[in-house]
This record gives sequence, C-alpha cells and structure tokens, in this order.
Amino acid sequence: MGNLEGKVAIVTGAGRGIGQQIAKKLAEQGAKVAVVDLKAEWCEETVGLVKAAGSEAIGLGCNVAESADVDATVKAVIAQFGTVDIMVNNAGITKDGLLMRMSDEDWDAVLNVNLKGTFLFTRAVSRPMMKNKAADGTSAGGSIINIASVVGIMGNAGQANYTASKGGVIALTKTTAKELGSRNVRCNAVAPGFIQSKMTDVLPEDVKKAYMDTIPLKRFGTAEDIAKCVAFLAGPDASYITGQIISVNGGMIG
Ligand code: NAI
Repeated sequence: MGNLEGKVAIVTGAGRGIGQQIAKKLAEQGAKVAVVDLKAEWCEETVGLVKAAGSEAIGLGCNVAESADVDATVKAVIAQFGTVDIMVNNAGITKDGLLMRMSDEDWDAVLNVNLKGTFLFTRAVSRPMMKNKAADGTSAGGSIINIASVVGIMGNAGQANYTASKGGVIALTKTTAKELGSRNVRCNAVAPGFIQSKMTDVLPEDVKKAYMDTIPLKRFGTAEDIAKCVAFLAGPDASYITGQIISVNGGMIG
C-alpha cells in the first residue's frame, strides 16, 4: 500500500511535462488523480498513466486563470471522488522578453496563469480540505503544493513577468500556510532549478551550457526529481512541514 492510499489529488497542467510525472507519482503511491489541463483531450495520456499505475483518474479541461472554470473543476472532482486531499498547482507559462519592451498582454497572461491560477485553486480547495476528517474524527486537512521556480527566488533577466509570478507564488505559499495551518491544511512550494522539459528544450545550447556551469550536481533535473519531492510533501512523512519553499535544483543556489 502506498503512502497516499485513498487520497484524492488535483494536479493542474498535468497533460505533459512535470505535471504529468507528478500525477503518475501520486498515483503510484495510491492517490486518485484529477488530471487538469487547458483542454480535456490533453489530459488523456496522463489519465492512461494513472490508470496503468493501478489508480483512478478523471481528466478535466480547465483554464486555471478563470475563476468560474476553477470552481466548476473542484466541484466536478468532489462529485466524482468525494473530496480533495492534495492540490498541486503546477500549470505555468512563460512569455519572455526584456521588461523595457514587455507588453501589458504578456505581463497579464503570465501573472494570470501562474499566480492568479494558483490563488483560485487554493481558494476553491481550502473549504473542502478544512472539512476533511480522519477515521478517528480528528481533522485530516490537506496538502497544497505550489510549483514555484529558482528564478522566483533569484530573479532572471528577460523574465520580469515569470519571476514576479513565481515570487508571488512563494509569498502566497507562506500566507496560505499561516491562514490554513490551524485546520491542518499544509501549504508548501517546490522551486525547481533547470528541469529538462518542452519548456527548456527550446533554449539555445550556449544558454543551456551557462546553466550547467552553475549546477554542482552537473546534470539538469528531471520531471521525476520534482515529482518525488511533491509526493513527499503530499504525504504523512511531511506532516510537520508547512510554509516552506523546497529547492530541487542540483545545488544551483542555496
Ligand atoms: P510545460 O509547458 O511542459 O507544461 C505546462 C502545462 O500547463 C501544459 O500541459 C499546459 O497546457 C498547461 N497549462 C498552461 N496554461 C494553462 C492554463 N491556463 N490552464 C490549465 N493548464 C495550463 O511546462 P513544465 O516544464 O512541465 O512546467 C511545469 C511547471 O514547472 C510550471 O509551473 C513551470 O513554471 C515550472 N517550472 C519549470 C521549470 C523547467 O525547467 N521546466 C523550472 C522551474 C519551474
């Protein structure tokens, strides 16, 4: 039996990349997973992986930046699985450019998905999580895990919108932990370093080499490296951890 047996998880941006690996890892540990991505059909591959891991899944199309969409998604998950125990706010986008030339549209788009989307799902799951009860009647609460970024801690030229959104996610994580802690709802963030993915595959070779020079472990991270940390934070082994930002970056920054 896995650590997360019987738990219900929502993972946003789970159609591919890091979110897909998170959904798979949570399923391997026994969680039922609601796979959320912009379009329902983008969720199908991940739903298949969750089922192949022996767990239950539903795929739901949802724009995390739209309040009504988010509320309807959480409602659908509760209708299907009864509650929500684990929330992983992973959906994220980049629209890079120097801040002098950054358009209002590119600023708003990134803040709306990365930061507002995280807020909307956190708000929507907080009440059902606070009501969760363990078999002995004590509060079972829940675990919210936000995917931030190393650049939300250190800044990065050309990413004013993205770094601000991830810095905001870090602050939101700490506030959520303070507001919901008394009801046993924990909230932590994982700050990945350079992770091999479709988002980073498109970077020029010289940029990739410059990053590699800053990584003591001398390899880029994998989506599974992030998924393992998320699964730990989701489960009972992390029951006294909240309000923390866990860097998973090969030692890139302390
Ligand atoms: P990805 O681009 O491969 O996957 C992101 C997923 O989010 C996609 O399936 C996409 O359709 C979905 N998505 C985008 N906008 C959405 C919206 N409005 N509503 C619902 N779903 C939406 O990206 P990757 O690399 O897997 O990144 C996942 C998370 O990890 C993001 O939050 C990203 O900022 C973060 N991250 C990634 C790093 C990397 O090196 N790849 C490093 C640090 C953080």
